[in-house]
Amino acid sequence: MSLPAPRNVRPDRRSVSDLGAVLPETAEVREDGHLFVGGVDMVELAGREGTALYVYDEADLRSRMHAYRDAFESRSARLPAGFDVAYAGKAFLNRAMVRLVDEEGLCLDVSGGGELARALDAGLAPARLVAHGNNKTPLEIEEAVSAGAGRIVVDSPIELERIAEAAERNNVVQDVLLRITPGVVVDTNDYITTGTEDSKFGFTLRDDIAFDGICQALDTPGVRLVGLHMHVGSQVLDIAPYAKAVDVVAGLMARVAAERGVALGQLDVGGGLGIAYQAEDEPSSIDSFVGLVVDSVERSCSERGLCVPRIVVEPGRSIAGPAGITLYHVGTIKELPGIRTFVDVDGGMSDNIRTALYHADYECAIASKAASPRTCVVTVAGKHCESGDVVALDAPLQEPEVGDVLVMFGTGAYCNSMASNYNGQPRPAIAFVADGEARIVTRRETYADLMARDAG
Ligand code: LLP
Repeated sequence: MSLPAPRNVRPDRRSVSDLGAVLPETAEVREDGHLFVGGVDMVELAGREGTALYVYDEADLRSRMHAYRDAFESRSARLPAGFDVAYAGKAFLNRAMVRLVDEEGLCLDVSGGGELARALDAGLAPARLVAHGNNKTPLEIEEAVSAGAGRIVVDSPIELERIAEAAERNNVVQDVLLRITPGVVVDTNDYITTGTEDSKFGFTLRDDIAFDGICQALDTPGVRLVGLHMHVGSQVLDIAPYAKAVDVVAGLMARVAAERGVALGQLDVGGGLGIAYQAEDEPSSIDSFVGLVVDSVERSCSERGLCVPRIVVEPGRSIAGPAGITLYHVGTIKELPGIRTFVDVDGGMSDNIRTALYHADYECAIASKAASPRTCVVTVAGKHCESGDVVALDAPLQEPEVGDVLVMFGTGAYCNSMASNYNGQPRPAIAFVADGEARIVTRRETYADLMARDAG
């Protein structure tokens, strides 16, 4: 595989302080030109803990969680049935993150038994879990039901039967939401579009499949259908299509009320709010997103004479993404005159597959030269045996030197959670920084960890 031809990216007169929404909340450039996050010097931290290193700004994580809660609370008079913010753990999850979710009073969306186990291990009340997955294994279903997961999102008729069986075995009635694919297209990468009909997720409206699924759920002992779920996609910058999707789902709720006499009490609109990866990206704010969701649910329900249900959102990226950065050391620099300059770092597609997979476009900087303009254009490549192992393609950067600490911004979501051991690379440590202190919340993998599961 060869890389795309160099893009005509111009060197950028801006320094780090001008990168706006791309920066974690407490990022600052101090007099010596070093980048500090959470009051911690990123150059010093990289030297002490080694790289690659994921760093999270704890204050930023907390304020994004608050922003979701505040956005709903400021509209509470219009939400008679209340709301839940269920952080989508697939974006980034470890014990420290579950504890933050717990402390900030959020629910947690878990996909798969491993995320469920993490949540339980960290002591989150199972009632606050929303369990997801388009093909939950019978074991995962058993684990969720027996743990007392608050809600399980049903993706298929067969899964409904399995949940009912597990509920019977455990002598409980399991609350479920049914996932609908509203047939709405959002403008994002095709791989992360989920609300269209041609999707492995959920129940399509076509041929009454969703309505029949709802009837099946209403008629199945052992499960209580508490509402409907949708998720249109991820990294959504134009949020207008949510109104259309909400309207489609509300239409289905109205039909259930009319034909079955059942008022479904919850509407989970999923996650998807996009973030700024480039300084000029203009994502909607958390408040506008919640505002649009509340307005649309209210309008679509009142038009049909329905009460406003409990509204649930499942944000992942818009909580974890901007709060996280990755630190690397520059190992080698290769100049190809007239083509491009490669800056090779001590990580790559093993800690950030998003550029190779989705052509993600990250901003980066040299942590010790953060006050200087980014006068070079370079391609930041990883250390893996693959030409597509690139983290930032044709990106503005300060003049790089071997040994510099390179910061990749906006890597808090879907980088650690999609990390691999390609080429036997131990996965990076994770540090939380706040109030001038850094604490390692997940240690770096060791070579012994790599071998630990091998038998014989
Ligand atoms: N709820 C459901 C049912 C989901 O499938 C997802 C994401 C979310 C919530 C959270 O969406 P968010 O707020 O983070 O956009 N690996 C891709 C993203 C895949 C998203 C999958 N589902 C990436 O790196 O861009």
